[in-house]
Amino acid sequence: DFASENHRPLHGRHVLVTAGPTHEPIDPVRYIANRSSGKQGFAIAAAAAAAGAQVTLISGPVHLDTPPGVERYDVESAAEMLDAVESALPADVAIMVAAVADWRAADRADSKIKKDGSGQVAPLPLAVNPDILSSVAASPARPRLLIGFAAETEHVVSHAQAKRLRKGADWIVANDVSGDVMGGDSNTVHLVTAEGVEDWPAMPKDKVAAALVERIAAHCMKDDA
Ligand code: CTP
Ligand code: CA
Repeated sequence: DFASENHRPLHGRHVLVTAGPTHEPIDPVRYIANRSSGKQGFAIAAAAAAAGAQVTLISGPVHLDTPPGVERYDVESAAEMLDAVESALPADVAIMVAAVADWRAADRADSKIKKDGSGQVAPLPLAVNPDILSSVAASPARPRLLIGFAAETEHVVSHAQAKRLRKGADWIVANDVSGDVMGGDSNTVHLVTAEGVEDWPAMPKDKVAAALVERIAAHCMKDDA
């Protein structure tokens, strides 16, 4: 009915969220990672579930509780995250909030790499990780609404506009991380779409999540009509 549609505007939709960092093993005790608390992605998963969506949350290593009503899968590396995302499709909406490591060690050592005593550093060959957002954008199971995040320290909006086109996302939430955002509870974002750019005021991460979910619900309704 009308009242419940208003309260649960994403009822009947499957929303896929990636969150947190990925860890790319170098050896059994070391890894390469991006800085990410996972808070923004978890807040979005929580807001989507509160809006009535069926939510699948694919999370890298974080120290956060699973939000109520959210189905969570934990992964370590970008390769594992890509597998989990592909298994979770199809979805009506995907929001890729994870700070995926761009590179991994080309060869993972099976035992701990030891210093050789020479004072020199052995080279660490890297390989480029798969781009999960681009790969979902190109997939036959591409969600109707595909949203990426972009953490930028400078030229925030222009970098995000370029990323939107390069990666085939519908929207990019551009996150200004030049201040003290990492691990904090507040975010300053710009919503970059084909229609233009909206500058949102600095808000707590749960308010950013609620505002984004509201925009997603409005878009889905328009899409149906
Ligand atoms: N992303 C992804 N897979 C990757 C890298 C990034 O899915 N291997 C997604 C992120 O989850 C995010 C978006 O792509 O939604 C933008 O990530 P970002 O790191 O800003 O983009 P990059 O193309 O890696 O650009 P940069 O060189 O600025 O790191
Ligand atoms: Ca990156």
